[in-house]
Amino acid sequence: RKVRIIGVPIDLGADRRGVDMGPSAIRYAGLHERLKKLGWEVEDVGNIDVPIAETREIKDPLLKYLPEISEVNEKLYPLVAQAIKEGVIPLVIGGDHSLGIGSLAGCAASGKQFGVIWFDTHGDYNSVDTTSSGNIHGMPLAVANGIGVEELVRIGGADRKIKEENTVIIGARDFDDEERDMIRQSKITVFSMSDIDRLGMEVVVRQGLEIANQGTDGVHISFDLDVLDPSEAPGVGTPVQGGITYREAHLAMEMVADCQCLLSMDVVEVNPILDVQNKTAELAVGLIGSAFGQKIYP
Ligand code: ARG
Ligand code: MN
Ligand code: MN
Ligand code: MN
Repeated sequence: RKVRIIGVPIDLGADRRGVDMGPSAIRYAGLHERLKKLGWEVEDVGNIDVPIAETREIKDPLLKYLPEISEVNEKLYPLVAQAIKEGVIPLVIGGDHSLGIGSLAGCAASGKQFGVIWFDTHGDYNSVDTTSSGNIHGMPLAVANGIGVEELVRIGGADRKIKEENTVIIGARDFDDEERDMIRQSKITVFSMSDIDRLGMEVVVRQGLEIANQGTDGVHISFDLDVLDPSEAPGVGTPVQGGITYREAHLAMEMVADCQCLLSMDVVEVNPILDVQNKTAELAVGLIGSAFGQKIYP
């Protein structure tokens, strides 16, 4: 039972600067102690080197910092793949969600069959043809499905890293129009906020895990803190009202722990500059705790 922490202090995929400090804030909030207390062996490989925005310029406004982001993900994916091959769970802490490109490429390169649960307000399913922001953190799930520019899609080899039929988005409430159409055309399952309202988080996560586990070796969880309501998680770059509650988020992570199917995890978009006394990073550590087996009354 070993976890390998990989920090990716990247903010090049997002407009609001500050998520580059996420890995530091999450470690500071007691990540190691939390995991060790739960009986996990913890190894931290530190942070991947990420270019500083001010030292680079934006060449393509519809694919901001493309060369830099692809360079970072080229470094990330072998680390994720290697951990999974060793039977160690890679825990990638961000940083913006553009790191999901490398993380999913790593899962694929591990040779394991895996399902994906993407906890997010957003679909992150844009491409250069549909983006209005040019921010690559709005693209990783599309890239993993083989949609996007060559420099991103080719990272880690094979074009498609995910199986759409084993991919689930939970907590969605802000898709761009064309992005929504693209997701509709795919076989990805979406549980929106109104599905959570109607069915309850328990049913949504149970069904989500079933879909992700169907014929796979396990599940990759990509957790964007902006899936929570901004009242719980103020320290995120792209807050949207009407998110999941603290309890719903913990329930979801407890169910992930219970299924004993976790192969790999990302925790992204913590922005300490917008946060209130590290609340969002502390929340992230608490949720990681639940995903790794912490119980209120074991
Ligand atoms: N859909 C918007 C865009 O493409 C927002 C994406 C937000 N993504 C995120 N990982 N927080 O720019
Ligand atoms: Mn996201
Ligand atoms: Mn998001
Ligand atoms: Mn938009």
